Amino acid sequence: MPIQWRDKMSVGSRVLDEDHKRLIDILNTFEQMTRNGASFEALDQIFQELADYTRDHFAREERIQQEINYPLRQTHQEQHRAMVAWLLKAYKTYKARRQAAEARGVSSDHDCYEELLSILNTWLTRHILQEDMKLKPHLQRHLEAAAMSDV
Ligand SMILES: [Fe+2]
Ligand SMILES: [Fe+2]
Repeated sequence: MPIQWRDKMSVGSRVLDEDHKRLIDILNTFEQMTRNGASFEALDQIFQELADYTRDHFAREERIQQEINYPLRQTHQEQHRAMVAWLLKAYKTYKARRQAAEARGVSSDHDCYEELLSILNTWLTRHILQEDMKLKPHLQRHLEAAAMSDV
């Protein structure tokens, strides 16, 4: 099931919201491609885009956390690191699953990636709504303080 961006996902930063929307877009494209029987090469490419963008986004988010001295940044960074490690390992596992299925003459590639996509979709939605969302009040305080100092 594709993920839909909702206003309640906003963490109060335009940059991070745009990043999250882009991540959702890439994941939805990935899902669409598995349904359309995309080649291994095409899936490798979209997965690479997902992995690269995930890393870029995590780096941006962590830099903001650093700037505003976010108290939970250590735990948050650990969650990001664990996710990147899992993502790279999991993709290889599911790709091997599809290769094995195709070797048996089964070409239903979406079934091979369904579990991976479901885990990724759940992880991303939950991470934004539960973990990134904890940033919101800290970001708001920081932005208010910055606005005050301009006066
Ligand atoms: Fe995060
Ligand atoms: Fe995030």
